[in-house]
Amino acid sequence: MRTFAIAASIAGLAFGLAGPASADPIIIKFSHVVATDTPKGKASEKFKELAEKYTGGKVKIEVYPNSTLYKDKEELEALQLGSVQMLAPSNSKFGPLGIREFEVFDLPYILPDLKTLRKVTEGPLGLRLLKLLDSKGITGLAYWDNGFKQMSANKKLVTPADYQGVKFRIQSSRVLQAQFKALGSLPQVMAFSEVYQALQTGVVDGQENTWSNIYTQKMHEVQKYITETNHGYIGYVVIVNKKFWDDLPADIRDQLSKAMKEATDFNNAQSQKENDDAMAEIKKSGKSEIIKLTPEQDEAMRKAMEPVYKDAASRVGQPLIDEFLREAKSSTN
Ligand code: LMR
Repeated sequence: MRTFAIAASIAGLAFGLAGPASADPIIIKFSHVVATDTPKGKASEKFKELAEKYTGGKVKIEVYPNSTLYKDKEELEALQLGSVQMLAPSNSKFGPLGIREFEVFDLPYILPDLKTLRKVTEGPLGLRLLKLLDSKGITGLAYWDNGFKQMSANKKLVTPADYQGVKFRIQSSRVLQAQFKALGSLPQVMAFSEVYQALQTGVVDGQENTWSNIYTQKMHEVQKYITETNHGYIGYVVIVNKKFWDDLPADIRDQLSKAMKEATDFNNAQSQKENDDAMAEIKKSGKSEIIKLTPEQDEAMRKAMEPVYKDAASRVGQPLIDEFLREAKSSTN
């Protein structure tokens, strides 16, 4: 017994003397649901590269794309339990946590462009929304863009009447539910990883998403038509388990924050191009017809979705919508 104790303490000393260089790296599991070849997929890889470089290998980032580790709802539970440390869910997916405020980003046509969005996310409102996550054991680190959504289905969607009775897959957002109800459609919440098959087998008739998500999930191969509506936005909140983050040594946290800032700039500089390229690829494939709306048709869609704002007031709060609109407007002046 005594021999064992001495041997153990010598081993411990040797381990200690070897210093931090031999210490196991801190592992950050970063799980997400989209393909690597998307804005979020590329930005998470960029974060990995920078974080490992800035921490000199003291931190290792393991990126798990395409729902390989967890699907939408499970990944949030896994983050709270500490089974993964980092995620980047879309703004539309915080409802199951009891936080509906991020759904303000889901309001139809609320963002005329990404410049306006930036003003909101980088302003006081964006910061305040991130703080809401604290009470759930989550720290919000950054906002990452994807881009604007298009509508797809196996029938031509041109006028609001075309949406009547169409079954649409939606993310878990009440605002998105209200949006499709306003159009007379039948919205159905479903995990992102299940969308392709649901479209293929006819469980749902259509969906809304960005060009990059449609292309990389091959949805265009099972949807005859995609209408270029740009009616809504998909963006992400990069989040980390709060206890894990707070317990990190301060210097490591600083290096990771620096890596996150640069990965965010990288993401926001390339997301538009990713979506433009995906749209060009879909066009080239000839598998799905892309429908462009005339200004009159666009106006009819905007009008049909107007009631969503009233409905959303009871879900995310009128003051929040007003503040969002105020900040959005100030950016265009
Ligand atoms: C979706 O579920 O449609 C998107 O939020 C997926 C994603 O992460 O872009």
